[in-house]
Amino acid sequence: MENSKLINEDGKISHKEQFAIDVLTGLCSSPKQLPSKYFYDDIGSDIFQKITNHDDYYLTRTEFEILSKFKNDIPDYVEEDEIDIIELGAGDGHKSQLILQGFLNKGKRVNYYPIDISSEAMDQLKKTITPHENLMINGIVAEYLMGLRFLRKKSKNKQIVLFLGSNIGNFDRVQNQAFLRQLWNSLNTDDLVLIGFDLKKSVPILTTAYNDSAGLTRDFNLNLLHRINTELGGNFDLNKFDHFGCYNPVLGAMQSYLISNEPQKVYIGEIQRSFLFDASEPIHLEHSFKYLRSDISYLCEQTGFSLENNFADDNEYFIDSLWKVAKGV
Ligand SMILES: C[S@@+](CC[C@H](N)C(=O)[O-])C[C@H]1O[C@@H](n2cnc3c(N)ncnc32)[C@H](O)[C@@H]1O
Repeated sequence: MENSKLINEDGKISHKEQFAIDVLTGLCSSPKQLPSKYFYDDIGSDIFQKITNHDDYYLTRTEFEILSKFKNDIPDYVEEDEIDIIELGAGDGHKSQLILQGFLNKGKRVNYYPIDISSEAMDQLKKTITPHENLMINGIVAEYLMGLRFLRKKSKNKQIVLFLGSNIGNFDRVQNQAFLRQLWNSLNTDDLVLIGFDLKKSVPILTTAYNDSAGLTRDFNLNLLHRINTELGGNFDLNKFDHFGCYNPVLGAMQSYLISNEPQKVYIGEIQRSFLFDASEPIHLEHSFKYLRSDISYLCEQTGFSLENNFADDNEYFIDSLWKVAKGV
């Protein structure tokens, strides 16, 4: 696409224009911030895969362990022979395939709709999961709720929505309720959702996971500045920012920042303006909220679902919580 051509031929806002607007909004905020949904370009998706394989990062391997153990139990909550499995922020599908396998093992026909804002993540998913006669795959590159709205009209099958990998943790404790109510609204009674919650645990385990010894999380966060440079014509000098990840016990969340290590001015061509940074000024990138079992039950009840089961690992690090849509009760 030409640099100057931000709007699609049909008049819709382009991905690039939305990216530019979000960067402008974030860098004009106080404190400055950048939305974490833009982490996952080609390079970001590759680095994230490396993070998930690193020893310091317990989340992915713990959820993988839970889903490996319970994959054949989850289908017991579904009577129907054919089901739609919709996944929000599917990533590379590495853990999703376990759930799909559980349903296929029980002889069910599965229509799988992974939704992800990142086309690169969707390309990785296609390499992980292959369709066969009982598994139809139809990937959608979109924001969570846009994808769900698109799917709503498509099928009358029972639906199970997967929201794995602690993606829910990127919402704060007001946003998560609003999001789950919208999800509830887009589903029918007795549909299911399976949500991955990272549990509160000892602070050193949390901070090690988000500050891995190989520096992968640092590279992952800095890549967002690199992405602004390449896609929006920015001139961020990556050496002039440090990664900082810390746990906020009052919020119950890991927080990640890039911190300007000197006073500097950054110009972004597509936005046609400069942004000033003081020495030690942070850019907030991401929250990752952690949960107690009681938070999960409360959230479930407050947003119109009933709790069917909590699938946890032996260390109680992580829970995949299965909820049923309750309507007309
Ligand atoms: C932390 S990764 C987790 C991937 C996968 N669920 C897992 O458990 O391994 C987050 C994924 O969600 C996608 N994502 C983030 N924000 C999104 C949004 N607002 N709409 C759709 N996808 C989003 C990212 O592109 C990325 O692939």
